[in-house]
Amino acid sequence: MSRLESMMRRLAAQKIGLEWCVEQTKDIIGDLAEIGLGNGRSYDHLREIAPDRKIWVLDRVLQCHPSCIPPAGTFLQGEASEVIAQMKRDNIGIALAHYDFGVGIKDKDEAEAAALSPLIRDIMVKDGLLISGQPLVGFTQIEGPAEIPAGRYYFYKT
Ligand SMILES: C[S@@+](CC[C@H](N)C(=O)[O-])C[C@H]1O[C@@H](n2cnc3c(N)ncnc32)[C@H](O)[C@@H]1O
Repeated sequence: MSRLESMMRRLAAQKIGLEWCVEQTKDIIGDLAEIGLGNGRSYDHLREIAPDRKIWVLDRVLQCHPSCIPPAGTFLQGEASEVIAQMKRDNIGIALAHYDFGVGIKDKDEAEAAALSPLIRDIMVKDGLLISGQPLVGFTQIEGPAEIPAGRYYFYKT
């Protein structure tokens, strides 16, 4: 499979998965977290499908499309390890997190996801969901939407 095909499948899974997770968590009290603003594509979709939820947006740099700049006070710039620790100190509770860090180098991306998992777990509320492009550790893996083949995108509950 070419990298283009792989990316198309990943993005389709991301869109379907985000919509599924927003529906699943609609009655769970807590905020949303977009972990990895990047260009802002998945954040833009998340805010469109969850207009009534507060979305915290994390990235070490603000380099998104101008139309996707998060509202003042919701963009948390810095290294994720430090930013998430501060969210914990601020008593922020996350009902749904989308983890989208990664540069496409499997070992490196998975190591980063594993290292950040315990910190992310600390800010999740009970029964919260995580959707992730990388395997996370310390959560219970669940089946996501039926249309997404196992392993293409990851789904967890706390
Ligand atoms: C794959 S991009 C996110 C793509 C984005 N969700 C979208 O749909 O456009 C990953 C982003 O995560 C950020 N990132 C990766 N590791 C990070 C870390 N440890 N702390 C903060 N930001 C990080 C990078 O700066 C990059 O912008």
